[in-house]
Amino acid sequence: MDGNSSAKTKVFVTGASGKTGALVVQQLLQLPDKFEVAVAVRSDKAHKYMVDLGVTPDNIFHLDLSGSDESRAALQAALQGCQALVICTAAVPEVALLSTLLGGLWFWAGSTLAGLLGRHQQPPEGAAGGSRAADPFVPVAKWKAGQTPEKVDYQGQVAQIEAAKASSSVQHVVLISSAGGCDPHHFLNHIGKDAGGGDILNWKRKAEQHLIASGLPYTILHPNHLVDPPAGRHVVALAVDDALQQPHWRQRLKMPRADLAALAVQCLLLKDAGGANRSIDCAARPAAAGEAPTTTTEQFKQLLQQMPDSCSYSINDRTKPDAEWACTPAGQN
Ligand SMILES: NC(=O)c1ccc[n+]([C@@H]2O[C@H](COP(=O)([O-])OP(=O)(O)OC[C@H]3O[C@@H](n4cnc5c(N)ncnc54)[C@H](OP(=O)(O)O)[C@@H]3O)[C@@H](O)[C@H]2O)c1
Repeated sequence: MDGNSSAKTKVFVTGASGKTGALVVQQLLQLPDKFEVAVAVRSDKAHKYMVDLGVTPDNIFHLDLSGSDESRAALQAALQGCQALVICTAAVPEVALLSTLLGGLWFWAGSTLAGLLGRHQQPPEGAAGGSRAADPFVPVAKWKAGQTPEKVDYQGQVAQIEAAKASSSVQHVVLISSAGGCDPHHFLNHIGKDAGGGDILNWKRKAEQHLIASGLPYTILHPNHLVDPPAGRHVVALAVDDALQQPHWRQRLKMPRADLAALAVQCLLLKDAGGANRSIDCAARPAAAGEAPTTTTEQFKQLLQQMPDSCSYSINDRTKPDAEWACTPAGQN
């Protein structure tokens, strides 16, 4: 569908109760002439949340999307009549607050001291383990049973892609993934590694590659660190291959979830105008005085057309049988 089409696109949003998913739902509902919305949720609370946002109860489906054949078949049935799928599901680590707080204080004191002394300690060449000095502190975390990144971010997303393919009505899949996937050693891959999970970005990247290989029209979005400032105040930047991941995390641009949701919705509108069959990194900075924030379809169209590249999966190719997983074996983080 393009911005001028009169036909409505029925969009199915998974992870609809999540912070980004709910914003995607809200923004789609704000365009009732262009979109009809269906969603997947896991709880009665999330069901009520969707009703309160304005999703019609007939379009709310209860599904646990961690890769079972049963849930894939149920999603496939739910997708009948939908032309697009927006995947916003993600494994969510349970962070151990006290150890993370103490570890974070220790890390902050060390990095502040290193900053005062004008030096940042780097691991020895080729060394495995630990978060590097340029990375933030890795929180102590575990996963709910059956909800690891391998289950949710890989098997669950593969099941969604396969359900979309089998539905025969879905013509576009937008996958909200993450920046940092070019680096198999990225610090985020260490989160929850000791707890039998981890490698979150590596599993996400493997799912992205499955989507590309599926033959379905796709858009993969790699946001930088997500934040929640008020909507519509930022200038969005696009890039590929983690070019927006500055070496030190403190210098990195962040990505407002509202702008990420807007980019996803605009990619649906601009499917035939630069919005599809590509994998893109995104981040945003506050608009300067007198500068227009990125909000309109025309602005997003220009942005997509001015940066026509797509991320290369020859970098950190997760389909290779010998693909290197995160740098530290479990127990050594
Ligand atoms: N946080 C960051 O800084 C950051 C940076 C870059 C990229 N990202 C990525 O951006 C995306 C959006 O992040 P977010 O923070 O907005 O998401 P979020 O709030 O953590 O939402 C995750 C959603 O996934 C759903 N979910 C998880 N496991 C599921 C399962 N087994 N079956 C069905 N649904 C399941 C959750 O449902 P429930 O509500 O039922 O739990 C929730 O709706 C994620 O892929 C995230 O990894 C995050």
